[in-house]
Amino acid sequence: MATPKPIGFAPPPIDGDTIAAVTRVLQSGWITSGPELAAFEEELAAFLAGPHVACFSSWTTACELALRWFGVGSGDEVIIPAMTYAATANIVLHCGAEPVMVDIDPKQRVVSADAVRAHIGPRTKVVMPVDLGGWPVDYDAVHTLLNSATIRTQFHAGNDVQAQLGRPLFLSDAAHSFGATFAGEPVGSQADITGFSFHAVKNLTTAEGGALAFSLPDSFDMDVILGWFKAMALHGQSKSALEKTTGSWHYDVVDAGYKCNMTDLQAAIGRAQLRKYPDQLLRRAAIASAYDKGFNGCAWYEGPPLEDALRTSSYHLFQLRISGISAEQRDRIMTNLKARGIATNVHFQPLPMLTLHQRRGEHVADYPESARLFEESLSLPIHLELTDEDVTRIIQAVKEEVETI
Ligand SMILES: Cc1ncc(COP(=O)(O)O)c(C=O)c1O
Repeated sequence: MATPKPIGFAPPPIDGDTIAAVTRVLQSGWITSGPELAAFEEELAAFLAGPHVACFSSWTTACELALRWFGVGSGDEVIIPAMTYAATANIVLHCGAEPVMVDIDPKQRVVSADAVRAHIGPRTKVVMPVDLGGWPVDYDAVHTLLNSATIRTQFHAGNDVQAQLGRPLFLSDAAHSFGATFAGEPVGSQADITGFSFHAVKNLTTAEGGALAFSLPDSFDMDVILGWFKAMALHGQSKSALEKTTGSWHYDVVDAGYKCNMTDLQAAIGRAQLRKYPDQLLRRAAIASAYDKGFNGCAWYEGPPLEDALRTSSYHLFQLRISGISAEQRDRIMTNLKARGIATNVHFQPLPMLTLHQRRGEHVADYPESARLFEESLSLPIHLELTDEDVTRIIQAVKEEVETI
């Protein structure tokens, strides 16, 4: 019998237009941050319909910069979900602050405002929920919580920026949710700052890259803030390399900045992808819906939230939950699917399962919903190379493997 065609987990959607865009920039005489990046930032802002946008080398560097802009440091706490990728916690630790973990809601698979409320204290400087798999948190509920008189009263501002905000910063880890919507608006203008990832496996990729969307209260001067972020992404220089080349070479260094700018080559990839992204989202939605229909009726099936009255997913992951199985059974199902040419993945090992956080005194038993989701779930392929026949084959194979495990 012929071996069936292998189905990858999340191949990047690189087509002829993307290759042509990169070639154009390669031949343009300018390949680091320059006009292509500026155009990408403008197009992202238009897609997100509101916020100011700045791009960086990754979600990680972008969001760490956001923590540093807010002055997060030793003695401060940042609230994050236990169920997330390592980066969410690592940037907090890089700043010398403490990640305070919150368990997820079992149905929504993201943190609820009530769970966040239970963990906010006087040392909380930032609340950083994660839109797991592309499903938005309840942005309104978190906003209402952070703006409440109780939270404002107990907030201890440690610097001018914190005093100006007067409450913890709402920094959204939207690494997965570019293209998702909340209350009819694209995710990106609900939190104070929203961080997107354009890593190679994300819906929209620049190979590596990330963006911040800013929706701070009107009292903040966005020209000053964007200037700070741009300078800090380039060693604190008062001018970019392009400005030094095209204008006077004189420049100053105003702070000990980092080196985390996005290049024009990355921006060219992003621009080519962004043009096709609305159609790609429709295809992702169709695949997610086909999976959901295909498994519906199976007693063990629990699908990821995809759409409700408030939100639509970006359909970044299709995290299939198989009720009642153990992590060992889940792993066996994944191995058997791999033998049938179907790649799958796990999102994520809850942070308290990782040595780093166990050393910090965390125990996964304290986060039972994250632990159960980890044990019972595997992420199925969801990408633009999948044909309808591939989706049918995956559904059939998963059903056979689950029902004989
Ligand atoms: C939830 C989450 N946050 C943050 C990141 C980090 O993104 P980047 O690789 O762009 O730094 C990832 C990456 O996969 C992620 O899944």
